Amino acid sequence: MLVDDFPVDLKPFLIPEVSGELGYDCLSCGARHAPDQLLYTCPACGGLLMLTDKKIARLQEKPGSFWRRLFDHRLMLNLQALKGVFTFHEFLAPNIPLSDIIYLGEGHSPVVKAPSSLANQVGANFFVKMEGQNPSASFKDRGMAAALSMLNYLVRIKNLDQVIAVCASTGDTSAAAALYASSLGQSLKSVVLLPKGKVTPQQLSQPLGAGATVFELPGVFDDSMKVVERLSEKYHVALLNSKNPWRVVGQESYAYEVAQQFDYALLDKVLIVPVGNAGNITAILSGLLKFHKAMVIDGLPKIVAVQSQRANPVFRFFRQPLGSRTYCPVVVKPSVAQAAMIGDPVSFPRLDVLSKQYEQEAGLSSFFVVEVDETAIMEGMLQANRHGLTVCTQGGECLAGLKAALGQGLITPSETAILDSTAHALKFVDFQNAYFEGRLAQEYGVTTKAELANKPRPLILENTPIPEPGQTLTGAQKEAFVEAATQAIAQALTLVEKV
Ligand code: F0G
Repeated sequence: MLVDDFPVDLKPFLIPEVSGELGYDCLSCGARHAPDQLLYTCPACGGLLMLTDKKIARLQEKPGSFWRRLFDHRLMLNLQALKGVFTFHEFLAPNIPLSDIIYLGEGHSPVVKAPSSLANQVGANFFVKMEGQNPSASFKDRGMAAALSMLNYLVRIKNLDQVIAVCASTGDTSAAAALYASSLGQSLKSVVLLPKGKVTPQQLSQPLGAGATVFELPGVFDDSMKVVERLSEKYHVALLNSKNPWRVVGQESYAYEVAQQFDYALLDKVLIVPVGNAGNITAILSGLLKFHKAMVIDGLPKIVAVQSQRANPVFRFFRQPLGSRTYCPVVVKPSVAQAAMIGDPVSFPRLDVLSKQYEQEAGLSSFFVVEVDETAIMEGMLQANRHGLTVCTQGGECLAGLKAALGQGLITPSETAILDSTAHALKFVDFQNAYFEGRLAQEYGVTTKAELANKPRPLILENTPIPEPGQTLTGAQKEAFVEAATQAIAQALTLVEKV
């Protein structure tokens, strides 16, 4: 839609100017640092940083109805920079000029209502936000769009050359980082560190395809993460893990979209989110709090964070009584929710701060963490995929979390849950195959159900011509093959011939 065709009162605001006063706030010592530099830890004390906007109050000067109308109308505006997560520019990273924004088709992933056949099995109606429909097939593209747009802006204003962007990954951050970096061409080189054998072949193929330099390291994600942290402390490299606060602001867009997709009525909703490095849950809490402060939403939804029993430091922290909680990293065990298999989440300090703020605003029964076992995660994924929803193992973890939360009475069937299927099922298809072939028991402790397994059936045709590789049948031979194959399939399906 052309700008001229928008309502007159919205026209001046459709294309946002640079605004706000962003800065890095240290969570440990409280120091504030200017935003136009690559910072991942506080130069004063080494603490974790969060981006805040000193002029955030300007967003509250307008009524919530203004923002709702503006964001809804903006969806019709054909301007690439505002097509993705930057639809919410004013709340996200308003210091980045539109000309530096990178858009590769991320954001605005569909929210799909679970079919009633699945809702009946689970015992509640629910929706799934299909984050696998992002360009690199996971939610990480949201954070990368923001982090790489910021980097693009910095490269321009500071005349930087040959920037090396590094990240450690369980597979999806690296796919997204490599993809967005590749869109910037020569000015940026993407380097990714992966725990060998702990990312799926599909995930590994992504940074390779995008031309990144890929290192495979011994150990698990937590080990690779430590190396990336050291690299960013000792050398001039840009860090693209969620330790980078620009990643987190980009991922806030998930919360803004859920609000928009439910007409800004979140009071009776429950957001179910898988937790690994704790970047996503942090971003979602932060985004919801910002929208709530500006009265864009009617209230704050309940949050249920989910972890596997085999990688559960966040669950272990929050199950302790309020006031006497201590955080301890865990040594992870193999989990089918492999992308979230993290024992020492880097964003934990942010989650600690934000969950407290959230509970202050929304009440004590607004934030829960549940843990689920591997069998429940696999069954969640397979069950969803059998009902039209292409969820990954972490999406399966969310479905398992929904069932656990219902079972524990943390939520009721009358509440509407929105599950975050953080990636596409195809990235994790090897877990499905291993389940079907009965190979998940020993390493992952998954008990398989025969009725959930599936395998291809070879068609054995005897005494019939068969198309050999590189050849095609013709005439009577082709006819004989088609008839024999048709009959064999009809017999297997017990089809009755038309009369
Ligand atoms: N789901 C998927 C598909 C993921 O890739 C991740 C994290 C998570 C959930 C957990 O989200 O870390 O924000 O709490 N993957 C990171 C990576 C760590 O390297 O791709 P989180």
